[in-house]
Amino acid sequence: MKRSAWILAAMCSAFMHLSAGFAKDIPQLSPHGDARRLIVDGKPFLILGGELGNSSASSVAYMDEIWPVLVALNLNTVLAPVSWELIEPQEGVFDFSLVDALLKRAGAHDQRLVLLWFGSWKNSMSSYAPPWVKRDPRRFPRAQTEDGRSHEILTAFSGENLNADRKAFVALMRHLATADKKDRTVVMVQVENEIGMIENARDHHPLANAAWSEAVPQAVLDALASGETAEELAAAWSAHGRKKSGSWTEVFGGGDRGEEIFMAWAYARYVEAITRAGKDIYDLPMFVNAALIRPNHRPGQYPSAGPLPHLRDLWRLGAPSIDFLAPDIYFPNFVEWTTRYAWPGNMLFIPEANRAGAAGAQANALFAIGELGAVGFSPFSIESIEDPETAPLADLYAGLASLSPLILDHLGANTMKGLRAPVNFDGDADLALQTFAMGGYRITATFIDPWTQREEQAPEAHGAIVIQQGEEEFLFAGAGVTLTFETADGEGPAGIESADEGRYENGAWIPGRRLNGDQTHQGRHIRLEPGAFAIQRVKLYRY
Ligand code: DGJ
Repeated sequence: MKRSAWILAAMCSAFMHLSAGFAKDIPQLSPHGDARRLIVDGKPFLILGGELGNSSASSVAYMDEIWPVLVALNLNTVLAPVSWELIEPQEGVFDFSLVDALLKRAGAHDQRLVLLWFGSWKNSMSSYAPPWVKRDPRRFPRAQTEDGRSHEILTAFSGENLNADRKAFVALMRHLATADKKDRTVVMVQVENEIGMIENARDHHPLANAAWSEAVPQAVLDALASGETAEELAAAWSAHGRKKSGSWTEVFGGGDRGEEIFMAWAYARYVEAITRAGKDIYDLPMFVNAALIRPNHRPGQYPSAGPLPHLRDLWRLGAPSIDFLAPDIYFPNFVEWTTRYAWPGNMLFIPEANRAGAAGAQANALFAIGELGAVGFSPFSIESIEDPETAPLADLYAGLASLSPLILDHLGANTMKGLRAPVNFDGDADLALQTFAMGGYRITATFIDPWTQREEQAPEAHGAIVIQQGEEEFLFAGAGVTLTFETADGEGPAGIESADEGRYENGAWIPGRRLNGDQTHQGRHIRLEPGAFAIQRVKLYRY
């Protein structure tokens, strides 16, 4: 080889080596104790997120006004839709300019992205399908009601519908695999949005009717026989004689509960085909989200068959490539819904945690992360929040960002706890004292601040995280929660040796004031004042 050619070859190889070195690891989920964590750039990552309103990311100029708001809110992750109609306006002709603009601007504003694939379904409907799909119902058939009406909902039973959606999703993932290889801006993908059948519990398209009389898959029957399925699924099976084989009606009955089970399987299989094909190209964590159920509503009144807790086994078995099922929580009973979604094996993430600015977001986030090991939190229509710089969410996210290395170490472990008053569907808060044991101490929390007039406080919006940092050392962070202490074994009283306020910077504790006087009621309690997120490190002792 001539010297100049050798030098060129060496330079090329060095360049290739270097550019390969630039590619960061693909974000992934990794087990951590009983929980899972999201790993980004090789490190655990806590999503301090917000979901954009549906239409914002369809205009680069519109988004340019929004990025500063997201930064002011101290977000680290933006949940942004990518719609089928905008990436594939003509069949087979793809346009990723909006996606590229999102990647670029998110990176420039130090934000990660969770992309929401608005493909076949968005809130049950198919409004984001491209015109060439919408206008050709013969090729891309629609779901039908029992009385034969058709909706703007693509039927899950058509191979043509599935193939078209899958091709577009695969093209998106192929594009991301290259365009985002260096930065890994996109950390997860939501496949479809709030899937669910409406009006009737199941689709009555002729293709659906044919599937309805087919045999229940063996995998579902085996799961039922194992006795480990969700209570409601097991009950539907038991109510119809615990059959070992048969059609959907034979095994689960012909009513709306059986129809919903059948439909959940169909949706899960459809989503599995899309997700698997996408992951084969670019293996990012992927999930599905669910619209929840109002009390006493029946399947079809609520979007039937979505990734709901009572249908989790259908989704788990039908869509094994989906990493977790996520709730969109707009109802006040946040504690109840998050707890229902925190079954062993499901990683908790709330892609839509009520509308941005709604009271209680801080307490909800602290509960979900601290108590249930959620990997992130994200209110909806985040850009609509007023006065972002002074918004309580900005304060919360700044505090959580400083605490996140610690939180991520304790995620899912019994050395961390999240506290908030549970609120029921009607909005009534249970303000009873909450007592728990940690280390050798019994800790009691109240959500009613002792030093603020009752009518001037909103205890249902108060919340905290507690982390045990040593045998007698605890960290309390949040707002509006007051804590008292006893020894767990009851042998002698417990006292506060010291309480320091402070903050973490890059994992290092920067202490502020020592609080052993009025601020702790001369050693009687730890008080996180209402109104502002604060962190205190406390050492207890027994005497
Ligand atoms: C839930 C959906 O997932 C969002 O896309 C949006 O439509 C909100 N509802 C509106 O409240």
